[in-house]
Amino acid sequence: MSAESLRREIETHNYRYYVLDAPTIPDAEYDKLFRELGELESAYPELATPDSPTQRVGGVPLAEFPKVVHRTPMLSLNNAFTEEDVAGFDRRVREALDRDAVEYALEPKFDGLAISLLYDHGRFVQGATRGDGYTGEDATANLRTVRSIPLRLRGSQPPALLEVRGEIVIFRADFQRMNARQRERGEKEFVNPRNAAAGSVRQLDPRLTAQRPLRFLAYGLGDSGGASFERHSEVLDWMADQGLPVPSERATATGLRELLDFHRRLADRRDRLPYAIDGVVYKVNRLADQQMLGFVSRAPRFALAHKYPAEEALTEVIGIEVQVGRSGALTPVARLKPVSVGGATVSNATLHNEDEVRKKDVWRRDVVVVRRAGDVIPEVVSVSQAGPREPSDRFEMPRACPVCGSEVIRIEGEAAARCSGGLFCPAQRKQAILHFASRRALDIQGLGDKLVDQLVDRAVVETPADLYQDKKVNVAALSELDHMAEKSAENVHAAIDRSRRTTLARFVYALGIRNVGEATAADLARHFGSFDRLALASEEELQQVRDVGPVVAASIRRFFTEPRNLEIIRQLRTGGVHWEEGAPAPGRKAGAFAGKTFVLTGTLPSVTREEAQELIKSRGGKVVGSVSKKVNFVVAGEEAGNKLDKAHELGIAVIDETELKRMIEGADK
Ligand code: IVH
Repeated sequence: MSAESLRREIETHNYRYYVLDAPTIPDAEYDKLFRELGELESAYPELATPDSPTQRVGGVPLAEFPKVVHRTPMLSLNNAFTEEDVAGFDRRVREALDRDAVEYALEPKFDGLAISLLYDHGRFVQGATRGDGYTGEDATANLRTVRSIPLRLRGSQPPALLEVRGEIVIFRADFQRMNARQRERGEKEFVNPRNAAAGSVRQLDPRLTAQRPLRFLAYGLGDSGGASFERHSEVLDWMADQGLPVPSERATATGLRELLDFHRRLADRRDRLPYAIDGVVYKVNRLADQQMLGFVSRAPRFALAHKYPAEEALTEVIGIEVQVGRSGALTPVARLKPVSVGGATVSNATLHNEDEVRKKDVWRRDVVVVRRAGDVIPEVVSVSQAGPREPSDRFEMPRACPVCGSEVIRIEGEAAARCSGGLFCPAQRKQAILHFASRRALDIQGLGDKLVDQLVDRAVVETPADLYQDKKVNVAALSELDHMAEKSAENVHAAIDRSRRTTLARFVYALGIRNVGEATAADLARHFGSFDRLALASEEELQQVRDVGPVVAASIRRFFTEPRNLEIIRQLRTGGVHWEEGAPAPGRKAGAFAGKTFVLTGTLPSVTREEAQELIKSRGGKVVGSVSKKVNFVVAGEEAGNKLDKAHELGIAVIDETELKRMIEGADK
């Protein structure tokens, strides 16, 4: 393909992706076209053009941004916060135009950075920030790196000069990814998409800007280059045809009710839009009417921004406390001087975990930015101004659980510190009982979360052991609960009774010992044969069991040295919970996979690669990285690549995770 047709093809894909939101080729295919063009242009430099899609990356760093005078000023909008404000606006418009009803164009108000783009005969020649509205900064090199800004317009007869107005934003999903990367590199995270977008456009080094996932959304024209339109909505449609990305959330409407409806509908979807918005904009649709209405000082009389409540606010941290969640995780929570955020009063905000407190460096008496977006729990985003910061203002993770006094443990590599009193800590009661009753544990049918909520809230049951105390949980007590007919009460009671007879493996799993899942519980039961042998085993003995390393062994030991756990176990046994005990296993069959070589490829549905490796190695198998004739099995998961092809080529057995597990079960029998 020629350089020019490659360029056209790439531009068409850009248009489909950014304007129509309907790409027709996979990203890899697009990248291939891009590479091909790049190679062609560097082999034949005379084929390169300044508006080629390959010219987006880079440019030399600037010392400062040159100034640009906008051909038409970039004005601001008047804001409305209430329905009365909007009613007043509509009334003034109708009166000035002397009409009963006026048609409006409705758009989201993007929360980003305003920019102006200049096209000379359809070619992008200059991009500038808004500045004071009359003079902005020339950010052409930076804006050239934004892929959704077309370097050439698609129309066949472009105006000689065109000023396109719009907003630079970062989509939420891209923002999350961007911050995840910052986190990985140990670098400071961006506060919000708007700040990140604004900071990226104001970068003096365009190579840095090129790495930021910036997007452009157009909402109007400055100098229209003589093109004549009747309505603003037609301007937007025309811009889309030119390859400029305009919002798909746009509409036209007549009358106050329809304006408010649009505002409300978009508010409902606000959190699900790909980009952040801080309101909607109403614009009188007929351009002749716009002209008639004109401007007052720096804002048009024909348009209005109807804002949503701000999702961020500043307030002071009164204290930092710790909350214990249902699963025992300790979450630092900032107590705040009450402040209105996103339309609600906020007086607590989560700080997630200890590392977050340190990274954001939040102390008591600091002034912080709090965010509350939609239904999400309010969070402390960053410190705006440090307080006096005396030693007592610093947050320390408590060593004992504030609810039950148990030791607080933080396992290496985990973000959360946890209370170790899982079986008896009041904060974890419901979770402990639900887990105990769950299908793979003691399997008490009919004891779901609604029932457990009631049993715990009415103080009928405090620990799983209480379920087996006939004085507490009997048919009469159960039938008093809401939505509990006598018959269902009998059923639940019978299910509790049936669960008394169980297996050692289920019982061990049901205790909810941290890091002891179903498989480990089964291994422990098989290895020790009896409960008391397990409860008394040293860490060393515990580590004899397959897949039990130092962390798991320590966690088991800790569990069985806590007197309150032992008391609950004693009560469970006197309550009638029992199982058949056996002899300790003679030692595991280490060599079931001896002499067999495995290759792992792709993503397995339920185990990580490390876990799968461990499962194979612990049975004497070998795991290697590449497929050769010496390999016996290739374990393939989702998105397996070359290795799978190679296996087929060499005629090597390919199995999936289920089959691997079946082989392991067979080996362990
Ligand atoms: S029209 C003369 N439409 O809001 C009217 N502005 O206060 C010019 N903004 O920074 C603005 N979304 O960048 C218009 N759909 C939209 C908008 C929008 C966001 C920004 C604009 C400017 C501010 C105006």
